Amino acid sequence: MFSHLEPLPADPILGLSALFKADTNPSKVDLGVGVYRTDAGETPIMKAIQAAYERLVANEGSKVYIAPTGWPGFTDAAAELALGVALKDKLKGQYGAIQTPGGCGALRLGFELIKHSAPETTVWVSNPTWANHVPTIKAADLTTAVYRYYDRASTSIDIDGMLEDLKDAKAGDMVLLHASCHNPTGADLDLAQWGKVIELIGERGLVPFLDMAYQGFAQGIEEDAEPIRQVFETLPEAVLSYSCSKNFGLYRERTGCLIVKSNGQDAEKALVTNMARLARENYSMPPSHGAALMTTVMEDADLRAMWQAELTEMRDRVNGLRRTLADSLTQKGFGDRFGAVATQTGMFSLLNLSPEEVAALQKDHAIYFPANGRINVAGLTQANIPYVADAVASVV
Ligand code: LMR
Repeated sequence: MFSHLEPLPADPILGLSALFKADTNPSKVDLGVGVYRTDAGETPIMKAIQAAYERLVANEGSKVYIAPTGWPGFTDAAAELALGVALKDKLKGQYGAIQTPGGCGALRLGFELIKHSAPETTVWVSNPTWANHVPTIKAADLTTAVYRYYDRASTSIDIDGMLEDLKDAKAGDMVLLHASCHNPTGADLDLAQWGKVIELIGERGLVPFLDMAYQGFAQGIEEDAEPIRQVFETLPEAVLSYSCSKNFGLYRERTGCLIVKSNGQDAEKALVTNMARLARENYSMPPSHGAALMTTVMEDADLRAMWQAELTEMRDRVNGLRRTLADSLTQKGFGDRFGAVATQTGMFSLLNLSPEEVAALQKDHAIYFPANGRINVAGLTQANIPYVADAVASVV
């Protein structure tokens, strides 16, 4: 049965972590997988999460099963963050939500729901998009198409190309959009551009699927959610995958949520029961730990304030690194080639480097990031930026 299987190449993002670990160069720099790091290069447990953990250990008392929809209160807390209290209340009954194993689990369950409900759907993805989007869509047996998004030469969004390409989508097709902190480019639509995209989606009868993995890392918790709120307010149907990996630092606890809005009869019940059945067939129910921690933070005013302050600090740190890296590269005589790094948002930027240049940075300077040129800005430190800038200058 299995003897014909051959080893596969490493994942383009996760595979770098093992290579980095094995590298003995003392100057090595990990700009690969998207995790937040401090200036000491660590990814600590957030203080509010640690406090919630201590409460949970003291009070949990049982490891009995939770419901397929997840930890009590979790989907409400996630919906409140994404939609805001007012819209969440306004849309009550029109959307269904389920806890998932991470944002990736929400994507997979969402695509499976689409395959189940509308099997002929084509999912349109941005060029470029997160390396795991297309594999996840294909794993659910859906077809993909690509819309223009980022123009590498001008390091800016090609909004005209995007709108033109989406005009080729047929009614009922799905448009996958990054709600904020576009991965891998760091280039987000502004609100005027979102307005045009939402209008086109509405006119053409398309359905948006928003992927939100970095709420709070671009402008702020509320600001980053604005596109989600406009989409859910304006359009009859919409899907949202939500990840707590980065903004609650819960990576390995696999904490995410799938939220789907529909204009059907008895929408909430229909959506939740269908999603719960898909979850049951896949993994029965999600792990509880991360969701319990996130819910504890969200339901306690002091812990929530502590979390918000820490998230602000993280965002400010990444933005500071962005400016320092852009300045350092400009001083190396690159002109505007890397200038957009300063104003892009979230953890990532796509450096204008060829795959060969990226390979040379890894081989000769032990600086690790995927071949498409995506760097995790949070992996930089004020101390290692001069080393990285020198290395880039030496390979270009
Ligand atoms: C990333 O893009 O680096 C993160 O979302 C982690 C992952 O699973 O790829």
